[in-house]
Amino acid sequence: YCFGSKFSRPDRFNKKIQCDQKKVKDIMFKDEVGEKKSFCRCWLSEKWPYCDGSHSKWNKLTGDNLGPVVVRERDT
Ligand code: FES
Repeated sequence: YCFGSKFSRPDRFNKKIQCDQKKVKDIMFKDEVGEKKSFCRCWLSEKWPYCDGSHSKWNKLTGDNLGPVVVRERDT
């Protein structure tokens, strides 16, 4: 977990992703994305930067409405 560093506050959003980095930034190339990918926006995924469905549990618990960014081909 991301607590214990001088930058940590209990109200921070990111509590577990790349805690040793000052900024979490992922670069993906177009050819890596393929037909469809879902990217996490809740900071809870175990498969970061991809969504693993963890947002559903959080939403159920808190009444929140978090969800992923889905990148896919346009319907033709
Ligand atoms: Fe984070 Fe789905 S797990 S948005």
